[in-house]
Amino acid sequence: MRHKFSIDSLDVLQKQTPFFAFSLDLVKNRYQEFKTHFPDSIVNYAMKANAEPEILEVLAKEGANFEVASVYELRMLKELKVPGSKMIYGTSVKPAEHIREFHEYGVERYAADSYEEVEKIALAAPGSLVYIRMTVNDAGSVFKFSEKFGTEKANVIPLLVRAKELGLVPYGISFHVGSQASNPRAWAEAIEELVPVLNELDEKYGIKIQMLNIGGGFPCAYASYEASVTLEEIATHTYEAYAILPYKPYLMLEPGRALVAESGVLVASVIARVERRESTWLFLDAGVYSGLFETMAYQGSTRYHVTSLRPSFSSGEKLFALAGPTGDSPDVMSRESMLPQDMHVGDKLVFHDVGAYSLVAVSPFNGFPKPDIFFL
Ligand SMILES: Cc1ncc(COP(=O)(O)O)c(C=O)c1O
Repeated sequence: MRHKFSIDSLDVLQKQTPFFAFSLDLVKNRYQEFKTHFPDSIVNYAMKANAEPEILEVLAKEGANFEVASVYELRMLKELKVPGSKMIYGTSVKPAEHIREFHEYGVERYAADSYEEVEKIALAAPGSLVYIRMTVNDAGSVFKFSEKFGTEKANVIPLLVRAKELGLVPYGISFHVGSQASNPRAWAEAIEELVPVLNELDEKYGIKIQMLNIGGGFPCAYASYEASVTLEEIATHTYEAYAILPYKPYLMLEPGRALVAESGVLVASVIARVERRESTWLFLDAGVYSGLFETMAYQGSTRYHVTSLRPSFSSGEKLFALAGPTGDSPDVMSRESMLPQDMHVGDKLVFHDVGAYSLVAVSPFNGFPKPDIFFL
């Protein structure tokens, strides 16, 4: 088990559960790892993964750029005085009034994946820089985006040409290999597909794109993740593919999950131990609606590493099912967590690597409030 977050550093452990605790140093280190493995690239933090102001602030101070998904996220960055030049508006289908607010704030770069969107951007943010999102093979990823977003490769050139006709700058091409990817060559394979596209754009239309956005998708080593793909491995394959491009647009990245997942833990208490059919169930004071929604089947069935805060008194472990406190039947985080067999009411459990796509999806379902958050 690989936990970068040191439980020993948790002097908040006596606090009322449930709560999240984050290490801001881990966020910083992870950002620097991206900069090391992808030198000269622009790293835009996909803030949809975790938009807590402390996290945004630490990344802004480190020099990160931001991939922003709505005016609501934009306003959070405005509060922190992040300039528009450090942002891209990365959702490829957007409300026109949101685009206008981004434009007024000085954001120049916009994603699109249809004629309608290019035309909308030309009206709402005239003269801006547009990049076209292309669908790629996302078969090896837990969360797939290619059904909802991206246009086929054959449409990339006509869309960039249309952008130019409308007075926009045909700035770049983007793709997203899907979140929590397991194929370390996924990014490289997508880049390889672009060789004929870049050639034709240049030779036939005199367009050379400035930027290639390789998206997010960089994985976290959850318990449910069998591949052990490192950033280094991904970067090696990616740069090999990049080397065969006919010219070198600068690289942009949009990591969300991999920048913040390992920086956070959730601490929860056992509120009931119940024997039911084949399993022993531990009901906790936190569940899928308290930030663990990626454990739900429709959200990918992520299994987090879970540990007990105290060692077993009677030595020995057994499998437990873990459920949240609400009256909803899908509020189940695991059916096979190995924990000390004498777990009882009041014991505390730690869910590891829960920094991404957790707090942003908390729901007040059944009236349970958002867990407290501590930053170390
Ligand atoms: C446009 C865009 N960029 C980046 C990301 C971040 O992806 P990940 O968290 O897998 O790195 C997402 C995730 O939904 C996205 O939609």
